Amino acid sequence: MKVTVSVLKADIGSIGGHIIPSQALISEVKNKVKELGKDLVIDSYISHTGDDIAILCTHERGISDEKIHKLAWDAFIAGTEMAKKQGLYGAGQDLLKDAFSGNIKGMGPAVAEMEFEERPNEPFVFFAADKTDPGAYNLPFYLGFADPMYCAGLILSPKMADGFTFRIVDVEYTEQDKVIDLNTPEDLYDIAALLRDNERYVIESIYSRSSGNQAVAISTTRLHNIAGKYTGKDDPIALVRVQGEFPATGEVLAPYEIGHFVAGFMRGSHTGPLMPCQLNCSISYFDGPPVVTGAAFCIKDGKLTEPADVFDHPYWDHVRLQISKKATAIRRQGFSGAAMLPYSELEYGGIVEKLEKLEKKFKLV
Ligand code: F6R
Ligand code: MG
Ligand code: MG
Repeated sequence: MKVTVSVLKADIGSIGGHIIPSQALISEVKNKVKELGKDLVIDSYISHTGDDIAILCTHERGISDEKIHKLAWDAFIAGTEMAKKQGLYGAGQDLLKDAFSGNIKGMGPAVAEMEFEERPNEPFVFFAADKTDPGAYNLPFYLGFADPMYCAGLILSPKMADGFTFRIVDVEYTEQDKVIDLNTPEDLYDIAALLRDNERYVIESIYSRSSGNQAVAISTTRLHNIAGKYTGKDDPIALVRVQGEFPATGEVLAPYEIGHFVAGFMRGSHTGPLMPCQLNCSISYFDGPPVVTGAAFCIKDGKLTEPADVFDHPYWDHVRLQISKKATAIRRQGFSGAAMLPYSELEYGGIVEKLEKLEKKFKLV
C-alpha cells in the first residue's frame, strides 16, 4: 500500500517562557486532529519537543495535500486559542499568516512529509529538535548515511553499497527552491563542503541509489525568510526510514552521541551542543541546551505502533552528562566570539541599532 507520513510542527505557545506547551493546549490540538481527521487520516501521534508541538499523521493523500495541511493549520489555530485563554507565552507565534492558503509551507509551521510504498515491515524514526535550526541535522545525517565510521552498513550490507543521493537546499535563496543533488560516495567532499555551512545549505531529503526510494525528509523552513525578520528559531523536524536498504536505527542515532555545536540556544542567538533527550522533554538551562528527540515507529497499512523513545536508554545518560559539560564550557565565555552567533544569524535587531548609534560616536584620530 502507498502511504504518506506527514509531520507538521509549530510553536503556538508555552508555559513559563519558551519551555513546554500546556496539557490543555496539547489536548486541544489532539481533539481537533481527531475531530477533523475522522475521514482524512489513518492514524496520528501528537507530541512536543520543548515548546514545539508536532502533529504526525498517516494517510493516502500524498505530500503537500491541502486538506491535511488545513487540518494541521486548524488544529494549531485551536491550540492558539487555548494558549491565549491560558495566557501562555508566545501564543500563536509560528502562525505567521492570517488565513490558510492551500499549503502550510511558507506560513510558519515546519513540514516534513514522505510518500512511499509500505515495505512488509516498515520502521521509521521521527526526530524533532528545539532551540536550533534545520542545519542541525546536517552532520548527523551526513555521518549516518555517508560515513562508514558511523554507518557500518555501508561496508556490510550489499543493499547499501551503491550509496545515497543527498538533496541539499540553499536556504538563503528565497525566490524559489534552489537545490542540488549529490551522490555518495563519489561526491562526498562536495557534500561536506556544502554541509559545513549549517545556516545556508541544509539537507532536504536523502534517497537510496540502489532502489531510488526516499529515506529522509527534513523541514527546511527558515522563519526569517517568511517574516522578513526573525520570529524564533526554526526548530526542525525530520522523518527517516530505517533498516533494509537504509541505515539501521542505531546507525542513524549514533552521531547524536557527539553533541555537536549548533545555532540556537538562548534567544536563538547562541552556539550550543545538541542534546538527545526523552520524548516530550522540556527546556531549561539558558533556554536550552538545544535538544533533539526521536520517536521510532513501525507502520502497517498506515496504522502506527506506539512510539519507541530512542533516547530513553541508560547509554544516553552518560552522553547527556558530557553534553551538559560542553554547554557549560561554551557558556562560560558568555557573549564572546564563537559563543554567540554572527550578526546575520541573531534573532534580534536591537544590536544592529546599538551599533548604528555607536558608529556615529566613533572618531578618526
Ligand atoms: C525557539 C525559541 C527561541 C525564541 C527566541 C525569542 O523555540 O523559543 O528561538 O523564539 O528566544 O524569544 P523571545 O520571544 O523571548 O524574544
Ligand atoms: Mg519558542
Ligand atoms: Mg521551539
